[in-house]
Amino acid sequence: MLDPHQEKVLILDFGSQYTQLIARRVRELKVYCEIHPYIMPLAAIKEFAPQAIILSGGPRSVYDRDAPTVDVDLFSLGVPVLGICYGIQLLNHLLGGEVAPAGAREYGAKTFSITNFDDLFYGLNPEEQVWMSHGDRVEHLAPGFEVIGCSNSCPTGAIRDLSRRLYGVQFHPEVHHTPRGKEILSNFLFRICGLQPLWTMASFIESATESIRQQVGDGQVICALSGGVDSSVTAVLVHRAIGDRLTCVFVNNGLLRKREAEEVFHLFREHHHLNLVYVDATVDFLCQLDGIIDPEEKRRRIGHEFIRIFAAEAKKLGGVKYLAQGTLYPDVIESGAAPDGPADTIKLHHNVGGLPAELGFELIEPLRDLFKDEVRRLGLQLGLPEEIVWRHPFPGPGLAVRCLGEVTRDKLDTLREADAIVVSEIKAANLYRSSSQAFAVLLPVRSVGVMGDARTYDFVCALRAVTSTDGMTADYFDFSHEFLGAAARRIINEVRGINRVVYDITSKPPGTIEWE
Ligand code: XMP
Repeated sequence: MLDPHQEKVLILDFGSQYTQLIARRVRELKVYCEIHPYIMPLAAIKEFAPQAIILSGGPRSVYDRDAPTVDVDLFSLGVPVLGICYGIQLLNHLLGGEVAPAGAREYGAKTFSITNFDDLFYGLNPEEQVWMSHGDRVEHLAPGFEVIGCSNSCPTGAIRDLSRRLYGVQFHPEVHHTPRGKEILSNFLFRICGLQPLWTMASFIESATESIRQQVGDGQVICALSGGVDSSVTAVLVHRAIGDRLTCVFVNNGLLRKREAEEVFHLFREHHHLNLVYVDATVDFLCQLDGIIDPEEKRRRIGHEFIRIFAAEAKKLGGVKYLAQGTLYPDVIESGAAPDGPADTIKLHHNVGGLPAELGFELIEPLRDLFKDEVRRLGLQLGLPEEIVWRHPFPGPGLAVRCLGEVTRDKLDTLREADAIVVSEIKAANLYRSSSQAFAVLLPVRSVGVMGDARTYDFVCALRAVTSTDGMTADYFDFSHEFLGAAARRIINEVRGINRVVYDITSKPPGTIEWE
């Protein structure tokens, strides 16, 4: 069997906001890679046995006190190295060259002149556009190095030591603003390091299936299925590996979107033939939420109730040792970046779907190595429909945090209807994929209106739609007035209890995506 992990690239993270992008590009080129903090000991690096090493950028200067660094013997392992931005400076500095402030900070799109087309820049033009973002630059080359490209303000913009296969670029090949950056990375991986494109979803499925079988043996596995892309792909992959020894539990907490429970149940039970336990716990959750208006208290109660119900189901099944969970690579990456660097301070603040260790299960996390876009490709390859694979993220506490203030069954019904209209209008206008999240929020505010000849005094509904790459920042979605008018008209005409619709034009920060 072809092992997609057979060849691997080590990315050492020095705190650049782009480190994950480097990994995404390498994966897109079908080579497996992992990000580790720059403090990874040399012995651990040797054990990891990478075929190539990439040093990321970072916010520091090599001359800072406590500047992040690596063991200089890293460059004698015989493994090719590509240093990017801070990476080129560190490599040059440690090998005996000199780094100095660039005079002016260079930031943005620049024209880059290439002087050697042998390897790293094979197939490129003498002038290419690149993305620069740096304060320091290589001033004097370390022994053995030569310049292979430069920009106006950075005469040592790209360097190499051919005999030791050490390369450095001052610009960022991993960002889209360097249009031919992916070819540069491809040249590094395939021409210089001699790697092969082995990391494909087909080979991943084979090897993941095999390792799930090995881990589980003849044991039983349980999985909390929410219908979101991560848990859905996890469930179908584990099912492929061990069939009916996987039991999925779907908890209807009464806080789901319109028809969601039925659709998820139908898809996984009827179509994928999963062994699926359906628990209607609407009453339990609504009791927990009775009279609660504080958002964090809602979250806390919903989280506890979910764990209580899930644990009870697991107990009923008996003899289950393993829990399958859809943890993804971005949740796993141990940020070892420079203190105060962006990658160090940006953390996921919502624990999405994790169940506590006290439940005593051994974890199966088959998606631990994957980025979200890889999980989507995997889902499609496993036969999941586009509606699941491209589904917008939906918070664990569901409509409870979109029904502002007190949550009641009636309000939830009203919100569900409005939300269904928002989603259907967005899909009809072909905007679902270009927006990251789009939904209705029911405000605990009544306003006066007039319908026909009668005065109304009903709730206000807010539309919320954003674009976002990681949920940490977001821009409001730029709908046309025509679209907004049509969606608002439908909501007011079709949903009893709502007589006014507003559109939320707050970005994150300073706002958040959800209203609670
Ligand atoms: P905010 O509202 O903080 O949301 O900008 C960022 C992302 O996280 C989702 N979200 C949650 N997900 N449990 C979850 O599983 C939660 O309590 C929760 N709160 C927010 C939100 O939908 C967005 O994708």
